[in-house]
Amino acid sequence: MAFGLLPLLANAVRRLAEASGDAGSAASAAGGAGGVSLPVMAHVVGATVFVVLGALQFSVSLRSRRPAWHRVAGRLAVVGSVLAAASGVWLAFAALEDDGTLLFAFRLVAAVGMGVFIALGVVAVLRRRLRRHRAWMIRAYAIGLGAATQLFTLGFGEALIGTGQVGVALLNAGGWAINVAVAEWVIRRAPRSVARPAADLAVVGR
Ligand code: HEM
Repeated sequence: MAFGLLPLLANAVRRLAEASGDAGSAASAAGGAGGVSLPVMAHVVGATVFVVLGALQFSVSLRSRRPAWHRVAGRLAVVGSVLAAASGVWLAFAALEDDGTLLFAFRLVAAVGMGVFIALGVVAVLRRRLRRHRAWMIRAYAIGLGAATQLFTLGFGEALIGTGQVGVALLNAGGWAINVAVAEWVIRRAPRSVARPAADLAVVGR
């Protein structure tokens, strides 16, 4: 959760600095007054809900003690993820001219991927396929955390290769790729010791 909140906090600091008079980002050019447009607002609210509630969904002790919480928070986290991904596409269109088609394509793949993984996670839990549900939600959350990993890939990468459009696009893609690789590692790592069937069956009402 702390890792996921990093880009949101960094952005809040940047926006406070911008409020002192600098030109806004491509996102703020997406039609907002005072630099905070509707897609930016939707993006930040959706991402915050997804990052905070999504992290809590992975707590085994919370699932076993409060199964009803997992069901309610899960629904809200799904709404947050859809809001973050849809507004992310909107922002990607707004930034297309500045950021180029390659980064636009990567953002589209990430947003669609996150949406599809969430949908597959929901379908899995409706079918009581708990291990599959966990795996798809880990993948979706990993894509959501791409914004945090990109702080580092862009921070270090731009110092090394500069800020050319193709380089920046690849550094963004690198952030998502690292997260997806870590997600696959987490999913495959000793699954039996991570999942607690009794807690999870309580969540789905068995
Ligand atoms: C796959 C889903 C996502 C996509 C496709 C996406 C895409 C974008 C795009 C295109 C922008 C505008 C960049 C610009 O100004 O040039 C943006 C801004 C931002 N995104 Fe995302 N994003 C996604 C998910 C997330 C998540 C989960 C978080 C939080 C952890 C997040 C945090 C941010 C922040 C803080 C900004 C800056 C908003 C502003 O200008 O105030 N994004 N995102």
